[in-house]
Amino acid sequence: MHIAIIGTGYVGLVTGACFAEFGVFVTCVDKDHEKIKKLKKGIIPFFEPGLEDIVKRNLKENRLKFTTRIDEAINESLVVFIAVGTPPRGDGSANLEYVEEVAKEIAKNMKSYKVIVTKSTVPVGTGLMIKEIIKKNLEKPVEFDIVSNPEFLREGSAVEDFMRPNRVVIGAESEQAIAIMKDLYRPLYLIETPFVITDIATSELIKYATNSFLATKISFINEISALCEAVGANVNTVAKAMGLDGRIGSKFLHAGIGFGGSCLPKDTMALVKIAEEKGVELSIVKAAIEANQRQKERLTAKIINAFDNNIQGKTVGILGLSFKPNTDDIRESPALYIIHTLLNKKALLKVYDPAAMENTKNIFPDIIYCSDPYSVAKNADALVIVTEWNQFRNLDIEKIKNLMNGNLFFDFRNIYDPQKIKQLGFKYFCVGRY
Ligand code: UDX
Repeated sequence: MHIAIIGTGYVGLVTGACFAEFGVFVTCVDKDHEKIKKLKKGIIPFFEPGLEDIVKRNLKENRLKFTTRIDEAINESLVVFIAVGTPPRGDGSANLEYVEEVAKEIAKNMKSYKVIVTKSTVPVGTGLMIKEIIKKNLEKPVEFDIVSNPEFLREGSAVEDFMRPNRVVIGAESEQAIAIMKDLYRPLYLIETPFVITDIATSELIKYATNSFLATKISFINEISALCEAVGANVNTVAKAMGLDGRIGSKFLHAGIGFGGSCLPKDTMALVKIAEEKGVELSIVKAAIEANQRQKERLTAKIINAFDNNIQGKTVGILGLSFKPNTDDIRESPALYIIHTLLNKKALLKVYDPAAMENTKNIFPDIIYCSDPYSVAKNADALVIVTEWNQFRNLDIEKIKNLMNGNLFFDFRNIYDPQKIKQLGFKYFCVGRY
């Protein structure tokens, strides 16, 4: 089978490369000439474990192609995935400009039956909107089907998530389209992946509901962490015991500095917007968004308060800039909020991240970028762990203590044992523990 993937962003590229790995012939399209030139050489524009190998292997074996020619890609494909961005507008709603543009291009270039699939997270109703756009812009009558097939990839483990998903969701109107999609995902059938086959609107909503629920779980435990601090309880133990209840589950119950990234913040806001437009109140999702903001503010205030509100001229070292480990993505990263707030208070900042420093330099060119955690610690008055990269879990804390000027240690991902850090003479601050 030949398929086309329109848009070589995160979702598009991972999807294209992984389908090629399944043995499908994939053409990935993007209008960015520079990007396509690099991808043809196997150069990936972002950091994702395992992806480069798959791209290079499938390029070599001619199952994966990159092009700027959308017409050719559509012509030779039975299935066309729309995987372009749906960035948030100022009011939180998803901007569907690129999706609409691609739908028009597909209509112009469609000469035979195609299955048009949305892979990006799109508001409920987008599938039907695409159908109307294509119908309106077809040059001659051609049959086609619309399918919603949301992705659930996590950055940092996207390849693994694609190859071994918890489920595949397919929303479609015709048996033919369902059969083609099942055929495409055949390797996953063989490993007994559950398939949820439903209508388009339900499938579109599944993605938003899933991400909003995950965000709610995180915000819930983060609010409990504040209460733990107030009553002298331990949030890690609370979360562990809650998670052992099979009805709750242990995942996404780690208290920290809040969720970031390209999905949870954007999708929760978009879902609230979709509901508002339909006159439906989603008070829980709204509260999850607000609690996430409060958690960032609450923890950042801990740093400022530790300096008796006078952090001007003090040196704060920050470990971790990406919104989570194993990615260079800093979108909506809590680290950006901390840096912005502390810079406003005229603190001096030294930072280190194993992958996300280049991206951060574009936003904060004037802070000090260090080559490792120990250079960050040198002469710092305070050290803040923002992202739980593995290499921050086993630092030589005694060495850090000796290098530092002050003794303030903020562990905003709860990765250290409080007693051990305190024994070394630090004032230790964490999230919902004592
Ligand atoms: C998420 C969804 O998990 C994925 O299914 C969807 O396709 C895209 O959005 P991603 O944004 O890559 O994936 O990251 P994820 O691992 O879900 O983490 C999101 C944020 O929540 C991170 O900032 C992380 O630090 C935070 N988080 C996660 C917590 O604070 N506590 C937790 O227990 C789990």
